[in-house]
Amino acid sequence: MCKICWGLSGLLVVIIAALAYFFVLPGSAEKAEDGRTAIVLTPAERDMVLSEMRGFLETVQGITEGLADNDMEAIASSVRTLGAANAGGAPVSLMVKLPGAFRSLAMETHGGFDELAMEAEDMGDAQIVLGRLGDLMRKCTTCHAGYRFETERR
Ligand code: HEC
Repeated sequence: MCKICWGLSGLLVVIIAALAYFFVLPGSAEKAEDGRTAIVLTPAERDMVLSEMRGFLETVQGITEGLADNDMEAIASSVRTLGAANAGGAPVSLMVKLPGAFRSLAMETHGGFDELAMEAEDMGDAQIVLGRLGDLMRKCTTCHAGYRFETERR
């Protein structure tokens, strides 16, 4: 009688299962010899994340230079290149391998760059932007202290 209801609840179950898989699964991680958590990725996935990391560092460089020159527009545009480079986002196949704490640190880092750019454009107070950069870079160092990447052996 209510085929649509069955269809809808079926869909709901699939969505809930997908969300549970995404948020609850611990990802593909193991203890590394140096005490950090090793996240095991394919070589291509590792290359992708590391290239994003180098983009982070380039943006940090751009922000630092902008601060030295008191050039808030340069800071904002340096952060924008980061957003443009990541427009596609990470594929789900990669996301499910990342532990939850890693994913939230990564999201906070992206959010931190955006807030910093807004701060630079709105208030333009170099001292405050510098403080934001310090907070932001604590996320870099926290994550690097806790995680490393390893590639799948086959
Ligand atoms: C959510 C975790 C996380 C955050 C946040 C993070 N990184 Fe990384 N980053 C990593 C991991 C893991 C590696 C690989 C380290 C390893 O395997 O030893 C890495 C590697 C790098 C590398 C080396 C890239 C290469 O080509 O080898 C750079 C540079 C880097 N990160 C910069 C940054 C900067 C700058 C920030 C902050 C703005 C940042 N990262 C934030 C996890 C993170």
